[in-house]
Amino acid sequence: MLAKIKSAGLIGINGYIIDIEADISNGLPVFDIVGLADTAVKESRERVRTAIKNCGFDFPIKRITINMAPGDTRKEGSAYDLAIAIGIMKATGQVSFPAGFHPIILGELSLDGSIRPINGVLPMLLSAADKEKDVILPKENALEACHVEGINVYAFEHLSELVSALNGDTPMSKFNKTIKNMRSSSCNSVCDDYADVKGQEAAKRALKIAAAGGHNLLMIGSPGTGKTMLARRLPSILPDLTYEEAIETTMIYSAAALLDSKEGLIQKRPFRSPHHTISNVALVGGGRIPKPGEISLAHNGVLYLDELPEFRRDVLEVLRQPLEDGKITVSRAYGSVVFPAKFMLIGSMNPCPCGYFGDQNHYCKCSPNQIMRYLDRLSGPLIDRFDIHLEVRPVSFDKLTGDYEGETSAQMKKEVDKARNIQLERYKDKEIYCNAQLSPKQIKQYCRLTKSQKSILKDAFSSLSLSARAYDRILRVARTIADLDGEVHIMDHHLAEAIQYRSLDRQYWNY
Ligand SMILES: Nc1ncnc2c1ncn2[C@@H]1O[C@H](COP(=O)(O)OP(=O)(O)O)[C@@H](O)[C@H]1O
Ligand SMILES: [Mg+2]
Ligand SMILES: [Zn+2]
Repeated sequence: MLAKIKSAGLIGINGYIIDIEADISNGLPVFDIVGLADTAVKESRERVRTAIKNCGFDFPIKRITINMAPGDTRKEGSAYDLAIAIGIMKATGQVSFPAGFHPIILGELSLDGSIRPINGVLPMLLSAADKEKDVILPKENALEACHVEGINVYAFEHLSELVSALNGDTPMSKFNKTIKNMRSSSCNSVCDDYADVKGQEAAKRALKIAAAGGHNLLMIGSPGTGKTMLARRLPSILPDLTYEEAIETTMIYSAAALLDSKEGLIQKRPFRSPHHTISNVALVGGGRIPKPGEISLAHNGVLYLDELPEFRRDVLEVLRQPLEDGKITVSRAYGSVVFPAKFMLIGSMNPCPCGYFGDQNHYCKCSPNQIMRYLDRLSGPLIDRFDIHLEVRPVSFDKLTGDYEGETSAQMKKEVDKARNIQLERYKDKEIYCNAQLSPKQIKQYCRLTKSQKSILKDAFSSLSLSARAYDRILRVARTIADLDGEVHIMDHHLAEAIQYRSLDRQYWNY
């Protein structure tokens, strides 16, 4: 007796359909799983056997062979328990499907037959949705699955519950929830506020521009000037995720097993701040079973690298390609996997080993040689990839202790949202969301300069000796500053401000 069941698998964040065949024949009792199944899949034999018995069904004492196709992709994890159990019960005639019903079945089994949630449901189903319409899955994954358009979700908590629904003893009811109109509260009450930061108007202005256009920003300043404090408050002013962005980010978290099942969809822009001891693999992704790294977990959000020169140079260098491409390719023995990685890079650093180079109130103890070596840990090309270079200066004692009220996060976010909405409208048919993602070709189209502006830029280039990459970055930032002003065209003062954010090129890197 042979039964066929559909299930789904995941390579990176791409899903595919898996056909599971259960064959039961006479012979010595064995239970085999074939078709490039890893150890975790093979372990499902014990869970399946025990769950079926504990629910009061018959487990056949015969020769059982489970074949998983296609046979050339590695199947991993415990997501196939339920499909295998149903396959065996179908082959033994204990369960029959309603006519024309060929659902994808996903779920892990506990020994008592309860159905446990699995990882990667959203990405699995998004790629499978055009082929199969019905899905049976664990109740805890139902919210997540509801974001895949055009599928019918049937959610269950227990094997016996599923069997009686399939057999028609209880109604097979669709899980119903329309969450299309989600509105995210991009920050909840625990979020720190920029109102806590005294003074630092210039720094807050630069961070507002970065948030509005999705620009990379590097902060340089002495210890205690508030760099970490400023960066940590960035999530409080980031624009809300669009629905499409939320889906993209949720897919990655689902595949990385970091999704909270109560949440269903990630509603806040991620903010990741890995420690400087992080490894290459943890940063960009990889491993035997390729998992997304920090740069992908920061997709559509922020990657914050505090004390940038403390990171290993080879770790920083692997960031360069994804910063250009917005994605990372992880090569594996059995093919490569692509993870999206469009993130805002925020870095902070001291200007020299002692931290006080250029500080008016402190004496810098470092020799020029020491400073050079310190800065050499960051390559020029990496520095180039920051759109905005920001010098953070200490605030005066009077400002720090006075009760003057600075701009709040709510006020800043309002401006950010306005500028971001202009961008979303302008790029609605393009596959980008913000100015930082403009390709060189799109820059020509959307960041037109007048003749006199071109000559301003030319002068800046010779006086600051900027690289060609800086040119595009200045234009993208100028576009964002114009959007914050609600201007259709880039004006002279927008361009001038954008150029000013490259000043560190000259001061620090081009002795
Ligand atoms: N502008 C500021 N307003 C209020 N507090 C500040 C300000 N700048 C620094 N501080 C205080 O100094 C502390 C150290 O700042 P921090 O962000 O760690 O500096 P850095 O990262 O530049 O070394 C902060 O936790 C905060 O208490
Ligand atoms: Mg700090
Ligand atoms: Zn120093």
